[in-house]
Amino acid sequence: MPGFVLAIDQGTTSTRAIAFDDGLHVLSVAQQEFQQHFPRSGWVEHDPEEIWRTVLDTTRLALARAALAASDIAAIGITNQRETVIIWDRATGKPIHNAVVWQDRRTSETCRRLIDDGAEDMIRDRTGLIVDPYFSATKIAWLLDNVEGARRRAEAGELAFGTIDSYLLWRLTGGRVHATDATNASRTLLFDIAKNDWDDELLGLFGVPRALLPRVEDCDGEFGETDPSLFGVAIPIRGVAGDQHAAMVGQACFQPGMVKSTYGTGCFAVLNTGAERVASGSRLLTTIGYRLAGKTTFALEGSIFVAGAAVQWLRDGLGLIERAEQSGGMAAASNEEEMIYLVPAFTGLGAPWWDPEARGAIFGLTRGTGPNELVRAALEAVAYQTADLLSAMKRDWHGARETVLRVDGGMVASDWTMQRLADLLDAPVDRPVVLETTALGAAWIAGQKAGVWPDAEGFADRWRLHRRFESTMEPKLREAKLKGWADAVSRTLSRHR
Ligand code: G3P
Repeated sequence: MPGFVLAIDQGTTSTRAIAFDDGLHVLSVAQQEFQQHFPRSGWVEHDPEEIWRTVLDTTRLALARAALAASDIAAIGITNQRETVIIWDRATGKPIHNAVVWQDRRTSETCRRLIDDGAEDMIRDRTGLIVDPYFSATKIAWLLDNVEGARRRAEAGELAFGTIDSYLLWRLTGGRVHATDATNASRTLLFDIAKNDWDDELLGLFGVPRALLPRVEDCDGEFGETDPSLFGVAIPIRGVAGDQHAAMVGQACFQPGMVKSTYGTGCFAVLNTGAERVASGSRLLTTIGYRLAGKTTFALEGSIFVAGAAVQWLRDGLGLIERAEQSGGMAAASNEEEMIYLVPAFTGLGAPWWDPEARGAIFGLTRGTGPNELVRAALEAVAYQTADLLSAMKRDWHGARETVLRVDGGMVASDWTMQRLADLLDAPVDRPVVLETTALGAAWIAGQKAGVWPDAEGFADRWRLHRRFESTMEPKLREAKLKGWADAVSRTLSRHR
């Protein structure tokens, strides 16, 4: 049996397919961006058909670039942007509406009402999550209430709901499989993470009929195989995990106390807490890290909505840079005496503030502030927010005290940003050799399940450090900067407007 494995990484702004060989090396990558739809302020949608086309195209291209036939692939692993909601017709496979994306804030009023009604504690106990429009449940209810006939059809069992993984499974298997995995389910606000099952009381509270829901599998569960008409032969699908969970696996964070942080559109720091379901006193999320062969590993997660998206904004919104790679050099050339803070609350603030109404702000502007200082402020914002998450993790759980941060995602290519991250965290930051950690994690789950890749221990042995960044910043300066940041955030929160 050949050990080639294919990962499909369906992200927020692009879809990637990556072929790996049996030595776990990348053989080929294919990537396609797709359109972001912003029908109203604070709303974000994707066209599911367009997403599906990018999955087909990139998968075919990755196979062709690696000179592989579909029959060479032992297994496919799927990883995806989480929380994003699609509802489709079970008979035709047609979505009833565009996907409502995790960044979308249209349900903030509903969330506010649930909080005012005192539902937050019960929801948090069962799901580990905060009541925020970020998660799936209120978006599902919005679709049922705003697409004509949808609620009646959902109750009659004619419609199916899925996060992106689930929708792709449906399409890839020719409508034979309606399933998701425990990590994606754990982000819906409908899933009891202790019982590992959908929760009837939550379904009632959010108004989501059970008939809509997929069955929930382990990350290495039964996901069927691709329809032969798609790639020539059927390929087994052996792994599914939400992208941040797959990155945690790809970074081999298998031991309690290990933490990874991925810098993509947003930034997501995930701490392995082992078999312990740690309740956060700091408004972090308690979530399923991964679930393999029937065993759940829990995690604490800090979710920041804007990281790389701030650099994109510098490029596309302000035109301050032409390419993201320029940002590190510009930040390095900035005047450090200009104490300027950019709070990138473009779509509200995530952990640990959870303020959907907050909007971005820049503080500390002087006549000396120029493009270099603004760029530095955008990069530093990512480091400050990570520092907030790590100190929350340390407050919440003793196992996080001596941690080293393993980083991945597009932004970690910048040495300047990683050095500033280590400086502001006052902790080591480890950048691995393989930066395709999300895809690698999904591929590993599928490859080990198919029996062609090593077990967790063997996989962890192959993790290689590229460079460790250690803090060199004067403690006094760090303190002053963190204080300035805390002040800037507090002035950005919506209750101050
Ligand atoms: O929770 C949202 C997250 O899964 C999106 O990740 O990498 O597409 O920004 P990314």
